[in-house]
Amino acid sequence: MNDPGGKAIAVDETRLGELLTELTLEEKVGLLTGADFWSLHPIEKIGLRRILLSDGPNGVRGTTWDERDTSLLFPNPSALSATWDPEQVERAGALMGAQARDKGIAWFLAPNINLHRSPLGGRHFECYSEDPLLTAASVAGFVAGVQGNGVAVTIKHYIGNESETDRMSYDAQIPEKALREVYLVPFESGVRAGAWSVMASYNSVNGASLTDNRRLLTDVLKDELGFDGAVVSDWFATRSTAASANAGLDVAMPGPHSPWNEALVAAVRAGVVTEDVIDDKVLRVLRLAARTGHLDGFAAPAPSTTPADACEQLRDIAARAMVVLRNEAGVLPLVPAPLGRVAVLGPNAALLTAQGGGSAHVNPAHVVSPLAGLREAFGDAVAIDHQEGVSTQRILPALSADDARDPETGEPGFRVDFVSAAGDVLGTERRLASRLVFMGTLPAGTAEVRVRTDLAVTEAGAHQFSVTGAGQYSLTIGATEPHAITLTSADNDLIENLVKPPEHRVSAELAAGTVRVEMRAAIPAFPMAMFGLNHQGPRAESDDAFAAAVAAARDADVALVFVGTTDEVESEGFDRTDLALPGRQDELVSAVAAANPRTVVVVNAGAPVEMPWRDEVAAVLWAWLPGQEGGHAIADALTGVVEPGGRLPTTFPAVGADSPVLSTQPVDGVIDYAEGSTFGYRAYEQASIDPAYPFGHGLGYTTWAYEDITAAETDSGAVTVEVSVRNTGARAGREVVQLYLGGEGTGGTDPLRLVGFASVTVQAGDAAIARITVDRKTLARWDEPAAAWRVVGGGRTLVAARSAADRRLTTRIELKDSADCTWDL
Ligand code: BGC
Repeated sequence: MNDPGGKAIAVDETRLGELLTELTLEEKVGLLTGADFWSLHPIEKIGLRRILLSDGPNGVRGTTWDERDTSLLFPNPSALSATWDPEQVERAGALMGAQARDKGIAWFLAPNINLHRSPLGGRHFECYSEDPLLTAASVAGFVAGVQGNGVAVTIKHYIGNESETDRMSYDAQIPEKALREVYLVPFESGVRAGAWSVMASYNSVNGASLTDNRRLLTDVLKDELGFDGAVVSDWFATRSTAASANAGLDVAMPGPHSPWNEALVAAVRAGVVTEDVIDDKVLRVLRLAARTGHLDGFAAPAPSTTPADACEQLRDIAARAMVVLRNEAGVLPLVPAPLGRVAVLGPNAALLTAQGGGSAHVNPAHVVSPLAGLREAFGDAVAIDHQEGVSTQRILPALSADDARDPETGEPGFRVDFVSAAGDVLGTERRLASRLVFMGTLPAGTAEVRVRTDLAVTEAGAHQFSVTGAGQYSLTIGATEPHAITLTSADNDLIENLVKPPEHRVSAELAAGTVRVEMRAAIPAFPMAMFGLNHQGPRAESDDAFAAAVAAARDADVALVFVGTTDEVESEGFDRTDLALPGRQDELVSAVAAANPRTVVVVNAGAPVEMPWRDEVAAVLWAWLPGQEGGHAIADALTGVVEPGGRLPTTFPAVGADSPVLSTQPVDGVIDYAEGSTFGYRAYEQASIDPAYPFGHGLGYTTWAYEDITAAETDSGAVTVEVSVRNTGARAGREVVQLYLGGEGTGGTDPLRLVGFASVTVQAGDAAIARITVDRKTLARWDEPAAAWRVVGGGRTLVAARSAADRRLTTRIELKDSADCTWDL
């Protein structure tokens, strides 16, 4: 792994101090509030260039939300941590860092390192794991990858942002012990890896909103953990002037409207905020600018650009991250040669859910569907019978640019005019997407956006059109009268409106030919506008589609069923309400399994779903939200070109109700973390509940024997462990050796917890030793009365395991009592 970026670029602090003295109070405060949605004000006189910010973590979106500005779309972060390989996370981070450089982005709003507390959490897909140690390892890799390219990461959302419901206002009441032992661990890892920025979340923790939380921002993050970077607010999270400034928030985003600016200048003049407090913030921003090469006189990071093989790398990472949950009688990997006919079924076969919804969304140049990936992998040797079976889309699909032509130029896509109240056209764009988002990017004076296209109708019959997004519209199809449409949304959350917009449908009986479609959208006063134009051609009745899929399965050598969620199900802005697969997907899998014993289910989802049919099918491959190359990666994994060697970073419950923490709903504004650290695998074990698939589970494509374990305490108090494993299968493979401490049947009171892991890649029949060092700090627990870390001396059991439930070898160690728990790794 590279040096963590924080240490790689030394900053001349004396020079930063000199630059500070050149700034007026107004200039200083001006730097601390966003200039707009995605940038800070430059200050030419000290050589500070404009700093651009961008989301994360699915990829680097850039400063627009526009299909013409494409970005690499990565496997979702839970998939990255499912590799149990910080080097793979670093590899993804390095690609994002390089693309950020190409887009001029210095400040990247990723990674999201909140924990998988409840499987219903809307942003579960965006986070790494339910386990603090696995998350911490992933964070360290990501920071090194991004910052190694001279781009700042932002570890977010600090802290307690495990739910989306009422996310701006709920108070997470987190016991101190759980805060220390679980929720702070990933943030501490990010700070130790040298993260240049932290994002303060929307919610409160223990009574104080994070942007106003002096204890967590200043006492813990900056003073105790030694964070020397800048704390940025989540977007619109700053709600006070002096309180947030004094608490330790450094930058209020976005701008230009903000409770800071002039109000903060006035607060300093009134003596409510000292200028020293402002100076500390400015120094932190200047430090970030210096580290990212945005401040003259400081060494710029080495040049970096997106490598030519980026897509191949995305494909490889995505395949490695996939998890073989079940594989009876070696049905996987599929060997194309004996296959004559393969049924490719399910809603996600042709329509891959490549990413979750929300601010993490990016616009990829292309998305490879599983159907396309398999067609390419199988070539002409295998006949593919594709049937969707069931549909899970709540709203109609976006109108495709492939079927649409700009009415004036005849070019593919949509003609978008920005029209003033007086009817003047202020600007025109040709767009390739029919769902449009404008974040402060509309020409000034725009009162209406007009979208026009000539749609090629290839199939005569009943077509459906719709508009989506809160607002007022007029929709005209062909020569019919315009439909006046008003859509309102139940929720004020911008992101929820973006991802789950209200919809109004209009049917039209069309003949084959060309039809003009025109949508006019009235523009609200707010500088953000988002709306969509959608379309669906004539479709088979749903029962017929279902029956066709089952019939195809019956006739095939293998039935591959692609089920999953959509970005309307897994998204920022709201939580899920249950863990069921949407629509009739469960029914479809059972019917296909009954028709063909060689049924393989590929689940395309980011967070756990119930799989009531899991014992009815031959194999289950968990493919995550695999990013733009997903279809290729799925084909590689199914055919064994790459071993899908992922291990679950989170427990998959048999039914949602078994989850130790299920509700994400605040009660009277409070989310009570009363379970402390007892969630995830720790809780399943304590309650003796068997999940569908345990934390750490993943079969890969070979089998393993655990032969020996030894452990020794070093002089510094760390413990070194060696585990010998043998590949007992017929092909080379990678094993992730997991090391747990304590747990049931091991004596003592230590709850089960992961304390380390290491992977080995071994040829068939060979053995290898996995070496794991467990740091003293990892062995320590938070001593509440003493308010300090402590290793309680005495005997402990260490368990080498294939998952939290598949424990293979144990050994005992004697720990020395120690109150000196600084990191020694
Ligand atoms: C999200 C952040 C994101 C920000 C900017 C917020 O809604 O919570 O994760 O970075 O928007 O898009």
